[in-house]
Amino acid sequence: MATTERSEIGAGDGVHPGDPVIVDRYTTAARINHWITATSLVLLAISGLALFHPSLFFLTGLFGGGTATRAIHPWIGVILFFGFLGLFFRFWKLNLWKREDGTWLARLRDVLAAHDDKLPEVGKYNAGQKMVFWLMSVLIVTLISSGIVIWNEYFGTYFSVEQKRVAVLIHAIAAIVMICVWIVHVYAAIWVRGTIGAMTRGQVTGGWAWRHHRKWLRELVTGKPGDRPHAPAE
Ligand code: HEM
Repeated sequence: MATTERSEIGAGDGVHPGDPVIVDRYTTAARINHWITATSLVLLAISGLALFHPSLFFLTGLFGGGTATRAIHPWIGVILFFGFLGLFFRFWKLNLWKREDGTWLARLRDVLAAHDDKLPEVGKYNAGQKMVFWLMSVLIVTLISSGIVIWNEYFGTYFSVEQKRVAVLIHAIAAIVMICVWIVHVYAAIWVRGTIGAMTRGQVTGGWAWRHHRKWLRELVTGKPGDRPHAPAE
């Protein structure tokens, strides 16, 4: 539920009328799940780039050398896959496309120009976040499946050289697109002020929720269909 936070100045005397309204957005478990996934993607990108081009080979030093990097990289991929699977099961329903998402997307110019009055009210996630979510889902499945084909240590005998060649190409393309999608995700989280706190503290201000995810906030407060008034943070 929406709660109020104690003011630092008025701490000790209970809730102060001037305190900002604070809304729970993510549970601790969801945040741990998110940061494990995020860390594994960063490590995966660094170790993958280290193996991708000779000019980046020096990055293998971070993982204990070339052989160690080659051995560790796929295992970090396994962690990313299961980490993201956790996020997927937590959030897939909230990322289903709704009618207002098409309108929001069609008015992207107004989104970028901060003409909030011209935008429809959106739920927990906007169309941009939903697209990032589904892109990440497809890319991670592509990365893990192409990665298995080229994971010689365990699956070397199951696939032909031709299959491995195609898999290397798909793996590299998917990795580059994934890095781009990840940059968009992080950029958006920083650009929309007040968003990072959602994933660090698990909370946002009522003002943030009202401005960016008004439908979600309304549902939290009124407990109307499609929402869970007793479990607002996922
Ligand atoms: C390392 C830098 C990252 C930062 C700073 C970051 C930041 C955030 C923030 C602030 C949110 C909350 C957005 C909101 O509630 O409106 C979020 C949500 C989320 N993040 Fe990240 N993130 C990072 C990396 C990743 C990675 C690598 C993945 C997946 C591979 C990921 C997947 C997600 C998902 C699935 C959500 C929920 C949003 C949705 O379901 O549409 N994040 N992230």
